[in-house]
Amino acid sequence: MRIAIITGASSGMGREFVRHADRTGGFDAIWAVARREERLHELAGECTTPLRPVVLDLSAPSSIDELHRLLEAAAREAGLAKVDDEGFSVGLLVNAAGFGKFGSFRDLTRSETDTMIALNCCVPVDLTQLAVRYMCKGSRIIEVVSSASFQPLPYMSLYAATKAFLLSYTRSLRWELVGTGIHATALCPGWVRTEFAQVAKDTANPTAVRHQQPSISASTAVGWSSFINACNLPVATCSPFTLVQRIFSKFVPNPVVMAIWEGIRRI
Ligand SMILES: NC(=O)c1ccc[n+]([C@@H]2O[C@H](COP(=O)([O-])OP(=O)(O)OC[C@H]3O[C@@H](n4cnc5c(N)ncnc54)[C@H](OP(=O)(O)O)[C@@H]3O)[C@@H](O)[C@H]2O)c1
Repeated sequence: MRIAIITGASSGMGREFVRHADRTGGFDAIWAVARREERLHELAGECTTPLRPVVLDLSAPSSIDELHRLLEAAAREAGLAKVDDEGFSVGLLVNAAGFGKFGSFRDLTRSETDTMIALNCCVPVDLTQLAVRYMCKGSRIIEVVSSASFQPLPYMSLYAATKAFLLSYTRSLRWELVGTGIHATALCPGWVRTEFAQVAKDTANPTAVRHQQPSISASTAVGWSSFINACNLPVATCSPFTLVQRIFSKFVPNPVVMAIWEGIRRI
């Protein structure tokens, strides 16, 4: 039994990853994780692969324990103690649940900052550490990061910092996975047309970041990152603009990049 676990499945890129896994994955089941149950049931109706809605608020620390319990139970139910491609395995993990908030340190509440750190950093790490124990040769991990990880971004400071954390984690995880046949990739797109901006604007300073172009579709981000992951490459930027940003931010000092961003975010 080979399953896919996809968080953030009720919307945006997570939902597209579910559709993509359904079309191409060869999974016996897809576990779709999010809080909005009705969206997961709608998605289940679209898929030919059995979809298991896993309704969880991942910002609650007990949610990873719950996923652990579900995985153990599924392996037991399948009657397969062995974790390999003939037994029970997690063939794909996509950590897409996450959010950002526009505004300075003055504009964000402690609850917003703590939940952002939990969801963008702790959850992908905890879930990866858990799922990798059920993975085998050919399994795949996609951490949904962001081009925000390439440099500090004032007025999206904490968001960019959480994504820099996740990019660093994914890069070193890849080294630790060498020889296992498990591919891990950081998906680092620029703006993607999802509900992200709507959530990010719901702060005390919604216009702190005005410019959200150029943008790509969620299906482009998912298709491209799946291809990059199949090639076992570390980072998927998904557009020429973001690739240039990635290279530029490696060579240009941070204060210069932040000064350019200061102009862009006001347009
Ligand atoms: N859109 C962009 O421009 C962009 C660019 C680069 C990177 N990203 C990253 O891409 C990832 C996916 O975002 P998206 O663009 O697809 O945004 P989205 O459409 O807002 O999707 C976010 C997903 O995260 C889930 N989620 C949020 N809080 C949750 C919680 N406490 N517990 C469980 N699930 C939760 C949401 O489901 P429920 O609300 O149903 O729980 C939703 O399915 C995020 O990590 C984001 O940082 C986005």
